[in-house]
Amino acid sequence: MAEIMGFGLSHYPGPLVPVEAWPSMLTRWVELGRVKAEDFAARDRWPEGMRQEWGNDEGQAAAREHHSRLLAGYRRLRQELDAFRPDIVLIWGDDQYENYKSDCIPAFCVGIYDKVVSKPFGGGKAVFKTDRNVWDLSPDTELPINCHAAGARGLSKSLLESGFDIAWSTALRHPNGLAHSFNNTVIYLDYEKRGFGFGYPIIPFHINCYGSQLIKTSASVVGEGKDEISPPSPSPARCFEMGRATARYFANSPWRVALVGSASWSHGSLTQKHGRLYPDIVADRARYEQLRASKFANWGNYSQAEMEDTGQHEVLNWIALAGAMTELGQRSEVVDYVETYVFNSAKCFAFFPPADNGARRAAP
Ligand SMILES: [Fe+2]
Repeated sequence: MAEIMGFGLSHYPGPLVPVEAWPSMLTRWVELGRVKAEDFAARDRWPEGMRQEWGNDEGQAAAREHHSRLLAGYRRLRQELDAFRPDIVLIWGDDQYENYKSDCIPAFCVGIYDKVVSKPFGGGKAVFKTDRNVWDLSPDTELPINCHAAGARGLSKSLLESGFDIAWSTALRHPNGLAHSFNNTVIYLDYEKRGFGFGYPIIPFHINCYGSQLIKTSASVVGEGKDEISPPSPSPARCFEMGRATARYFANSPWRVALVGSASWSHGSLTQKHGRLYPDIVADRARYEQLRASKFANWGNYSQAEMEDTGQHEVLNWIALAGAMTELGQRSEVVDYVETYVFNSAKCFAFFPPADNGARRAAP
């Protein structure tokens, strides 16, 4: 019998690389010209919390604290996932100019695969100043990931028949296989085994979260950007409704399904009103209070302008999840909400137990 459980988490690239490298994202942004050198240098204009995090050791102690809370969050969600025993783990994630490039950028794309092979251990030189990964694995190390083609095909059919003009895909073009959002989710939920012990078949479901910033921001990280504004992401309302429709399909399926919204919240790198230096913590705190109270039924009502102003572009992945959980009447349990000014984005860890047995849930 179908049963569905929700999960929200981050796919921040930090846990792939040594923790000492985490503060280097900011200085890398300065070198790339994404943050003005004078804004980075003007510590007296930084928010007090940011100065405290940076401290006297250029963020090293704060990085270790951030690191331990993130890994604890993933461990706890993995316990919940194992207790639920899903047949399918569907991941809503963003593709940052990885599989979808200038020749075609789908708003939504369902990956219909039996199995894919990713190469996610290439180090962090795109965003951190290191080529190393935390395990010192070769960048060419292949990670096979089982997928659930029957579920993905059935979901694609159902969404298209009900008016959602999604794209679908049966092949990957990115040399690293799946996009970072999917690879990192698998690895972080199986951190000790580096993703090789994840086991559950996934459905990668792409949402073009970056929208107007895709070419300017995502493409520029891989050296293919231009200083131009692209057409927007799908709207929060559409993501929310697509999430609802996804939940309806799986509620009538034979499978136990984990639906995962994979994203950090406001990104400093996308918060233009802060010079891309630090995220919109005020907006994230408001969202956190809503999530804590299970008041996410209006998350489809945010305007695209609000999402972009607050740097919450990637939160569209959580909004799809919020739509699904609203459809099913499932409440949220927040495991942790980790704020930061220095490490680009706040990260939230939450799960949404099936409605009929939510009462049995207690902290393990
Ligand atoms: Fe992402």
